[in-house]
Amino acid sequence: MAAKVKKAVIPAAGLGTRFLPFTKSSPKEMLPVVDRPVIQYIIEEAVDAGIEDILVITSRHKKSLEDHFDRLVDLEDALTAKGKTDEVREIRRISEMAQIHFVRQGEALGLGHAIGMAKNHIGGEPFAVLLGDDIMHRSSPVLKGMIAAYEAEQSSVVALMEVPKQDIGSYGCAAATALSDNLVQVSELVEKPDPEVAPSNLAVMGRYVFTPEIFDEIAKTQPGAGGEIQITDAMASLMTYQRMLGFTFTEGRFDTGKKIDYLRAVVELALEREDLGPEFRTILRDIAIREGLVS
Ligand code: G1P
Repeated sequence: MAAKVKKAVIPAAGLGTRFLPFTKSSPKEMLPVVDRPVIQYIIEEAVDAGIEDILVITSRHKKSLEDHFDRLVDLEDALTAKGKTDEVREIRRISEMAQIHFVRQGEALGLGHAIGMAKNHIGGEPFAVLLGDDIMHRSSPVLKGMIAAYEAEQSSVVALMEVPKQDIGSYGCAAATALSDNLVQVSELVEKPDPEVAPSNLAVMGRYVFTPEIFDEIAKTQPGAGGEIQITDAMASLMTYQRMLGFTFTEGRFDTGKKIDYLRAVVELALEREDLGPEFRTILRDIAIREGLVS
């Protein structure tokens, strides 16, 4: 029977230097977007797409990630005693969403190396990878579509989005040919190419579904761009003997690793909240008028 995608890996071991000084004492994955940390959005996206078992790759000073998904019985009891049943339900839901496991990457050797830490946990199954910086809007079809493509084709799938050519040097870059509406066949992958020589402006966007053979390729991958073991390089080796599909999309992504896009995520997701949206909209309109952005 064709393998189903039930496991996911979330690499969350990075130093988060772009968010200093916040990240001096708190992991960037714990940055709040309204009232929940970025990592919770990522895990909810995975669970929503049918993932049941999640391995988070962390590092030193990231204990708060584990605490967030643990039961907090004292707090549950205190809230229950006060009759705050909605709050109890919400914090308990967080710890019951999926089987969530943690492993530490002792040394920051790169994204490919971090994903490689999941080998024993994943075993011989296909699995998804969700990078911790990107939040996808809950209406996004990307991860669900990628998993459906995997299950139909039994080929690895990577999320791709067009970016302005001058920005491609910040991403993995794919050359590809169209197969159907959202699906392409990837023919070349390069990590952070010089925009002058990049094969396209199609950028890799932090969501992957892999066959387990990716682990063999990671083990053989030498340090690449930035002196780090890159998942993109391991994927390029995998492609020499297995098909690699791309799932293309155009919207619904927030790159919370960038301050400006983090701000956009907070504003847009707060506007959508029933409890905050109406009042926040009024505040935003007042600010826009005061700043001369609208009349
Ligand atoms: C990583 C990947 C890159 C991908 C990017 C997406 O780079 O190596 O291929 O395009 O995430 O956000 P990083 O942003 O960690 O430098």
